[in-house]
Amino acid sequence: MHNFLPIAYFENQFVPFENAKISIATHALHYGTAAFGGMRGIPDPENPQQILLFRLDRHCQRLCQSAKFLNYELSPEKLEQIIIDFVQKNQPTKSFYIRPLVYSSGLGIAPRLHNIEKNFFVYGLEMGDYLSPDGISCRISSWTRQEDRSFPLRGKISAAYITSALAKTEAVESGFDEAILMNSQGKVCEATGMNVFIVRKGKLITPGFEQDILEGITRDSVLTIAKNLGIPTIERPIDKSELLIADEVFLCGTAAKIAPVKQIETFKLPENRPITEQLKEKLSGITENKDSDYKNWIYVIPLEGK
Ligand SMILES: Cc1ncc(COP(=O)(O)O)c(C=O)c1O
Repeated sequence: MHNFLPIAYFENQFVPFENAKISIATHALHYGTAAFGGMRGIPDPENPQQILLFRLDRHCQRLCQSAKFLNYELSPEKLEQIIIDFVQKNQPTKSFYIRPLVYSSGLGIAPRLHNIEKNFFVYGLEMGDYLSPDGISCRISSWTRQEDRSFPLRGKISAAYITSALAKTEAVESGFDEAILMNSQGKVCEATGMNVFIVRKGKLITPGFEQDILEGITRDSVLTIAKNLGIPTIERPIDKSELLIADEVFLCGTAAKIAPVKQIETFKLPENRPITEQLKEKLSGITENKDSDYKNWIYVIPLEGK
């Protein structure tokens, strides 16, 4: 069971989480016409009177970008302010995850985006490690990632997650921790809620946006950190066989942070992962606001009355 934060933002006001309920006729529930975000926050290890949110602006921008595919205009500044208020009202004391969701909230039959009300809500939950930080096993999924010509992949659209859900359950029920999906070209795409990186001969490689990946914010952060550390980075298609013989493989996302991969199908990866470990340590310091070079990625929220 999850530990949900006590206050949610729902139908334009803050209410107790238990009171935030929707009708069974809600349009989004039937047609997947919703888009969501997910960001992490922690109490500042140096000062319990403030909360640190990682890349709040980027997360709000991406959700507003996703909302465009739902025919809904949402302002990133408004969303940012609601999330700040949300954190201040909840006063979280442990590492947590915020889930804002934009959806067609009207009641009605017929898939469409016009003439149907939209709204958004925000709730949160405590969240520790989503995947083991010590290394996970992955299966190559029998499911293929959607293609941008049939699905708006530049949005984080709820309906897409049926593929992630099928792939995750298939992987777990066959004895693996996570799934890696190929795209329709048969190239490495991403995991069920994370982007994929490999290391070969000291170079960090990840599929480019044209490979039908989600525009991951952790992916962007990892690429920036690596470049600043002088690690060569390449965005290009990755073959399945290249994935299996890589020197290092890791998945990254808001929930999973950086999760090293120790095995893919029957292929065991080397236990020594110098680049993954270096990036993991750096990212962890940044999220705790210990790295002066990346202070602009951390939004500090004071908790009044604490
Ligand atoms: C399908 C998918 N890919 C990648 C990611 C990683 O994105 P981010 O780093 O922005 O969390 C996520 C998580 O949101 C996701 O759901």
